[in-house]
Amino acid sequence: MQLTSSFILLLGSLLAIAQDASAIPLGREQTGVVTLPLERASMRRDLPARTLHQMHNVRSHRRLARMTGREVPSAEVLFDQLNVRDAHIVGRGPTRVSYPGVKLGNKNPDATPTTSPGADTPATAAAAAGEGFSAVDAEAVKNGTLTPANTPKTANSLGLDIETNDVGYIATVQIGSPPRDFKLLMDSGSADFWVGSEGCTSETGPDCGNHVFLGTQSSASFVDQQQPFNVTYGSGAVEGNIVTDDLVVAGLKLPAHVFGVATLESKEFSSDTTKFDGIMGLAKSTLSQQQTLTPVEALAKAGLIKEAITSFKISRLADQKNDGQVTFGGADTSLFDQKTLVTLDNVNANGFWEAGIDSLTLDGKDLGLQGRTAILDTGTTLLIVPPADAQAIHQAIPGAAEVGQGTFTLPCTTNASLAFTFGGRSFAIDPRDIAFLPVDPNNPAGDCLSGISSGQINGANTLLVGDVFLKNALFSTDVGRNTIQLAKLI
Ligand SMILES: *[C@@H]1O[C@H](CO)[C@@H](O)[C@H](O)[C@H]1NC(C)=O
Ligand SMILES: *[C@@H]1O[C@H](CO)[C@@H](O)[C@H](O)[C@H]1NC(C)=O
Ligand SMILES: *[C@@H]1O[C@H](CO)[C@@H](O)[C@H](O)[C@H]1NC(C)=O
Repeated sequence: MQLTSSFILLLGSLLAIAQDASAIPLGREQTGVVTLPLERASMRRDLPARTLHQMHNVRSHRRLARMTGREVPSAEVLFDQLNVRDAHIVGRGPTRVSYPGVKLGNKNPDATPTTSPGADTPATAAAAAGEGFSAVDAEAVKNGTLTPANTPKTANSLGLDIETNDVGYIATVQIGSPPRDFKLLMDSGSADFWVGSEGCTSETGPDCGNHVFLGTQSSASFVDQQQPFNVTYGSGAVEGNIVTDDLVVAGLKLPAHVFGVATLESKEFSSDTTKFDGIMGLAKSTLSQQQTLTPVEALAKAGLIKEAITSFKISRLADQKNDGQVTFGGADTSLFDQKTLVTLDNVNANGFWEAGIDSLTLDGKDLGLQGRTAILDTGTTLLIVPPADAQAIHQAIPGAAEVGQGTFTLPCTTNASLAFTFGGRSFAIDPRDIAFLPVDPNNPAGDCLSGISSGQINGANTLLVGDVFLKNALFSTDVGRNTIQLAKLI
């Protein structure tokens, strides 16, 4: 078997940089803090597209397994399984990559897609689709860019900076006395809030990398509660102590907020190239390992916002609007079409945000997938669907092929419109979001790796619905009513 130990070693180091990239300062005007850009070596720019894609894939699979109470496969096993058919390409120069893909059953790939009258293809997609992978995204992948968000005009909102080609969304809050900026991954798929502790150590070294840390040396209001906590994610884990310190979220002050500082971080978080200093989990606190309120719940309890509502508008780098934001206590009605707003029951008993899917369509045609649910997760990049569903979806996309177990390619120029119907309303994914990364970076109009993968998650009628979908809707969660809202963006 050619899946050699050096291959496994390579994969190990890839996992280490699952959240990798160079740090670029936020340059927020209102903070008055000038930060100089730090150029850091990033392995990412040299990685073949498939490998980058696999990192996201593995993270998502492990996350979904954890979320659905299944045994979490080891990353090595997943890489192994997902690479059965094309392991040999990893490590070759990107220009020589080619996939011996099995073309799926498109009888007539050149046929004009039929679009039923009810199908909702966004107008912007029609204009931009067909042009191939965006140059802006390609550059962000190459440079490992963190693209700063515009300062939101909406009250109680934080801008969402874009990690590379829409792989994650990061906001800045202030913690401690004096207050200092911390960058946090905004994650609707977990419920713990932590930043690194002063003196934090990593599983791979004596410190936790080039990040901002919190403790008694930097904050006069910091109090260690002498209570341990730990959190394990799809990839990566932290352990540390429960603390209290002053937190400012979008100008709203939470004195002596209860959260965690990590004293030990896995390499996914301690790496210099990881762009955030901690994570803000915004699922329901019933999931919290720290057994404490999430920031939005604490803001509501303190009466600083009326209700524990979190609304995400995540932005697509290729649009170059950088207008992503997260709003606490409500949603900015100027961002979405109110006529399209649907309210969905949260069907997850544990505290994730999960909704029933009425149907899935491809270019307006029903794919016949029934009884599916979606965990809506801003902390996941891709869309992970059961194996048969991934086949059905890609079979309907002209030019798509399966290139490895659970991994698909499709033309970067695809115009295929995959839509989810939630609450009787169809939400289409911009075709650009499905064409996740070009197989050959020098050929942006060639084949792209699909943003939709399937995997080894058994018995799942649960789809893990990450940023590939969420870029296409306003996504709002309400802890008090235990509901989810979706609406079309304007
Ligand atoms: C998508 O549409 C554009 C413009 O209509 C066209 O140039 C392109 O070839 C189409 N892509 C595919 C894969 O059919
Ligand atoms: C990417 O890196 C190149 C070369 O260092 C630089 O010229 C370019 O401005 C960078 N792009 C972005 C978006 O940061
Ligand atoms: C993690 O926390 C749980 C309780 O939340 C505890 O049972 C477990 O022992 C902890 N694990 C480690 C490695 O500290």
